[in-house]
Amino acid sequence: MSVNEGSLFHLETLNPIHRFTEALAGSCLDPHLPSSEGDPRELVARNPDVFTQGGSWPRDVWVTGGLGATLDSVLVDTGDRQELIDLCTILTVLGINDPWVKLKQLAYLLSRSPHHVTIRLGCDMYYRVARRILKSFDRLGEPGDYVINMRQCNGSDAVELALHSAWKAADESASRRRLGTFLGSYHGENLTASLISEHRPQHGSGRLLVEEASNVTFFPTPRAEESGSLSAESLAVLDALERDGDDYFAVIIEPIQWRNSVHAVPLEFLRRLRDVCTRKSICLIFDEIHNGFGYTGTISFAENCGVCPDIAAMSKGLTSGHGSLAIMVAKRGFSEIDGPFAGKSNAADMMSLVAIDAVLDRLLGVEPNDVDAIPDWLPAELVAELRVGLLDTSYSLTVALVDSLFLELRRRFPRVVGASTGMGLVRGLVMLDEVGRPSEAVASAVAKQGLANGVYVRQAGTALFVKPSLVLSPAEADIALDGLSRTLTQVTQGRCEEGRSG
Ligand SMILES: Cc1ncc(COP(=O)(O)O)c(C=O)c1O
Repeated sequence: MSVNEGSLFHLETLNPIHRFTEALAGSCLDPHLPSSEGDPRELVARNPDVFTQGGSWPRDVWVTGGLGATLDSVLVDTGDRQELIDLCTILTVLGINDPWVKLKQLAYLLSRSPHHVTIRLGCDMYYRVARRILKSFDRLGEPGDYVINMRQCNGSDAVELALHSAWKAADESASRRRLGTFLGSYHGENLTASLISEHRPQHGSGRLLVEEASNVTFFPTPRAEESGSLSAESLAVLDALERDGDDYFAVIIEPIQWRNSVHAVPLEFLRRLRDVCTRKSICLIFDEIHNGFGYTGTISFAENCGVCPDIAAMSKGLTSGHGSLAIMVAKRGFSEIDGPFAGKSNAADMMSLVAIDAVLDRLLGVEPNDVDAIPDWLPAELVAELRVGLLDTSYSLTVALVDSLFLELRRRFPRVVGASTGMGLVRGLVMLDEVGRPSEAVASAVAKQGLANGVYVRQAGTALFVKPSLVLSPAEADIALDGLSRTLTQVTQGRCEEGRSG
């Protein structure tokens, strides 16, 4: 049986698409033609001649295809083929090659509809997507409370725009010039986002053009004690805002700080932060770039936690990797933005808009008007999912798969596997060193070695960062468990503890 059960399939296997793909076979439009550029090992060896250094360039593993959470890959060093389970999708919330998103993009591309519309001109898809996203925010208050900007390309853009909007709204209050942010945060790599992030280049030539913004206050990471009540430091942050709130135009917070070992900010802190920001008229910004769009069970993180920001910045997940798009959703009072901001040239490209429309179908179910018009030649499982949406049918099952994976790893390796952090599908699993301390080195070694054992996870501080797609199947989770168990055994070889066998 395939590891992808049910509704996932490659588009080319559908009968109605067959004639189309057959017509391309053997021509230079045939996507299956082998590349003539060299094998993965040769290409990766050329990296230093071709690419800038320092950023991410392909290294250990080459991907040739895939479906859902399974990537068909080649180990660059050995040339061995393997199925790699992608447990850290970052943004492909529907996994690889989602058939519905591809089908909608394909249908659009074959049509006469405009493949591009410049910012000065309108088109139907732009309004359709805006309406659908805002509908999710309607539940947070009165319909119409929020407005949207969809003209951003990446998360850093959306964060910067959120700050511009909050800043503009505070124009009249000369004393409100301070921004609050938190240690442990990461908001992106442009200059503005770097200046408000703890995680940023700090050494040597990697330093920023401007090293700090004097009006940015870094508060300690919000935490709870073991008893569940907020830490004294966190309470002090709230007191400071209560006292000095009139100086602040905005506070920005990532509800789950992934770079901080996937730390979930206590809900009670978010609630009380909301209260103080409301009382003091401070704009509360949620950076939902990792936390939103399906990964915590809802479109906006706010829907999930019941705490409403004034502005939400979103990006990862929106197109499930089928295009680059970021958005800012803001309460009406923060809708004014000074030019020339707010309209990136390459943003809201038509394929990204088609993709987000299709991703919304997958997450929430198709629009009521479209239910009866779902093609009858689609496999029944996909049709069933499209009627309801994966957030209803699959989210809690996928979260349960991650829970069991973590529990079993902890049972097998009690001295290496520490706390589970994060929430929903934005998760961390803390790695411990020989004396039981959370360890970045162990997390890094496991993430690296995991690739050779067929599992992709990332390191985030002292934790493994696990952010699977909604379509992770039980069979894929089992393969991941085996791969991670092999990895933990290898990485901890020589320690007194042996892994307990499954
Ligand atoms: C929480 C958070 N905010 C903002 C960003 C920036 O997004 P982008 O890389 O698309 O600019 C990131 C990127 O990882 C992020 O994790």
